[in-house]
Amino acid sequence: MELTTTEIKLLHYLSDGQFHSGKQLALEFDVSRTSIWNYLKNLEKFGIDFHAVKGKGTRLAKPIELLNKQLILERLTPGASIFLNQLDLLNSLPSTNKYLVQKNQSQKLENGMVCIAEMQTSGKGRLGRDWISPFAQNLYLSFLWNFKTGIGALSGLSLACGLAVCHALKNIGLEGHELKWPNDILFGGKKLAGILVEIQGESQDEYTAVVGVGINCNMTAQEAKKIEQPWTDIKAIMSEKPFSRNALASELISQVLKMLSAFESEGLKPLLPQWDKYDACKDKEVRIISGASSCLGVAKGVTELGELKLLNSRGDVERITSGEVSLRLE
Ligand code: BTN
Repeated sequence: MELTTTEIKLLHYLSDGQFHSGKQLALEFDVSRTSIWNYLKNLEKFGIDFHAVKGKGTRLAKPIELLNKQLILERLTPGASIFLNQLDLLNSLPSTNKYLVQKNQSQKLENGMVCIAEMQTSGKGRLGRDWISPFAQNLYLSFLWNFKTGIGALSGLSLACGLAVCHALKNIGLEGHELKWPNDILFGGKKLAGILVEIQGESQDEYTAVVGVGINCNMTAQEAKKIEQPWTDIKAIMSEKPFSRNALASELISQVLKMLSAFESEGLKPLLPQWDKYDACKDKEVRIISGASSCLGVAKGVTELGELKLLNSRGDVERITSGEVSLRLE
């Protein structure tokens, strides 16, 4: 199920929040009033509600903030804009990660290529999961960066990016969010944002990383039914405080690009004290699930290679490189 270009244009038109009559919309879009009605019905299937009043016309039931490239670029922090090479804003695509991976295959991309989309039709999560990506409600972004290092040096990259997302959330006024190894961003134990890093190797010492970030901002109830884990969104957390998706997108782009550049030169080591502050698992009993097997222990922070330190029942500290952490509830 996808939105057509005309439906997306119609939504942009209605995002002024004003009433528009069917006749006026039909004239504007050079289609029949029945077509307009059908477009509105289809938009409703994407969780966008309308308010129709006889004699006045139709308007959006609640305001919708569409992404605006100009606004996003204007708000980038000065220290970060030097790292941005290009920003592609798309209405709908299968996945922003896939977009950058494919674009890089057809033309070698420079560091700091960023893609942001209003909607993903096949958003990818970690461990083969789907990432539910409804139109104009959340944020879906991907970043491309080339590293001239061995693959080993990239093992902490996803943790560093998790930290950058935490910084961006803090800068828009959010507090109390945490990191669950390797890179889940949680609030109150529920998933708020996730990161998917995909690495392609050109040669032994040259790798391209595509870092995908998804943040739940305003998840629609309809789409939320498809999420298979406890989740939350910014709207629920910030309840009363107004917040702008465009402002958060600027913050994210600024923080992630700065982080990619810093990580390239210094790795994860200088970031460990910051990671510690956000660590949701530190000194807690956890279960590490890896495929069909799992093990228990007490989480003791992360290493400079991005491994999880796990104190086992024999008193040894193991270094976990992959798997999923389940926080054991008392
Ligand atoms: C996770 O499962 O925690 C990772 C989720 C990553 C989702 C983002 S949304 C933007 C980018 N494009 C994708 O297809 N996935 C990532």
